[in-house]
Amino acid sequence: MKISELESSDVDDIIRIFENQFVYKFAEDPHISREDILTTIWDDLICNLSSRTAFGYKAVYNSKLIGVAILKPSRWDSEILGINTTKISVFVKKYQKSVVDKLLTVLHNKAVENNIQLIFTRINLNNIFLIQHLLSQNYFLADILISLNKIEERESVVDIKQPSNLIIEDVKMEYEEKLVDITRSAYIYSHYYTDTLIHFEKAEKIYIEWIKNSLRGYANKILVAKQNKHIVGYITCKVIPIGKSRYGLIDLIAVRKSYQQKDIGLHLILSALKWFSNHVRTVYVTTQAQNIAAIRLYEKTGFRIVSSEATLHHWLV
Ligand SMILES: CC(C)(COP(=O)(O)OP(=O)(O)OC[C@H]1O[C@@H](n2cnc3c(N)ncnc32)[C@H](O)[C@@H]1OP(=O)(O)O)[C@@H](O)C(=O)NCCC(=O)NCCS
Repeated sequence: MKISELESSDVDDIIRIFENQFVYKFAEDPHISREDILTTIWDDLICNLSSRTAFGYKAVYNSKLIGVAILKPSRWDSEILGINTTKISVFVKKYQKSVVDKLLTVLHNKAVENNIQLIFTRINLNNIFLIQHLLSQNYFLADILISLNKIEERESVVDIKQPSNLIIEDVKMEYEEKLVDITRSAYIYSHYYTDTLIHFEKAEKIYIEWIKNSLRGYANKILVAKQNKHIVGYITCKVIPIGKSRYGLIDLIAVRKSYQQKDIGLHLILSALKWFSNHVRTVYVTTQAQNIAAIRLYEKTGFRIVSSEATLHHWLV
């Protein structure tokens, strides 16, 4: 077996061999074509490898590609956390300890060369042997990410009238401080908070910057919930193009703690779905496995789980 650097000419093989891993989450979605997903991934890989914003290695046996590892430094996370972070992806045709060991060694060397301090990776729970391998190499479990999807053909089965004192309306820039306040400590199940080496304030800052950026155009739509003139919750919506297809994404949703369990989250989702229905035919959302409140809320509004992934962290210092 030989390990060498990935080249742009390997991308066709990578897409062909690992196709099912790339399309996994979208596999049963009638509104996103397989071809669109693969073309988008092909374009991203070519662009990142040729501009050297990502680095990759391949494992080849008997002239056949059997494994790939890619490292892509994350600028945004690094700036906010004040540490150099990178995302890595590892794909193996069939789990073999020696292949993963060799790919990880070259990847870690590259990370050290780039002064990386923290590695993030996400692995589908189907690849349990790969997850076990990483856990044995000082990677630790930071969260389990659940993705859910709602296609337009699947009705939201709820028929709950919006209370007259609850108003769902478009966000205004002047609400920024209120949204930031609701965001504080709202997303404590995420991998930034569960890594005890990341300061709580830094994890919080990730989400505060996220909601601020959303207000400045990162989101395509933000709706807020107002009760008796108080802003008590928000939802941010994005439309993601993927080739000629596109899908909706509920990016952030939070309700102020003292107002939770009063159907506000529910009406935020229903209003967002109404907005999405004019733009996309399929909507995705992610949350952590331990966020039972969020999972139940999404399932109640017609979403179904489509994938589960382990988020793993590895500190190099
Ligand atoms: C998730 C969240 C937005 C739900 O908002 P909410 O206004 O409290 O939810 P609702 O009152 O509209 O509840 C609607 C449904 O969600 C589920 N749900 C909400 N809170 C729940 C809880 N604490 N436990 C179990 N189920 C819960 C229930 O199915 C509920 O319907 P039901 O009462 O008929 O069973 C809110 O808990 C929150 O802001 N959490 C922090 C931020 C967060 O986790 N966001 C999601 C990250 S992806």
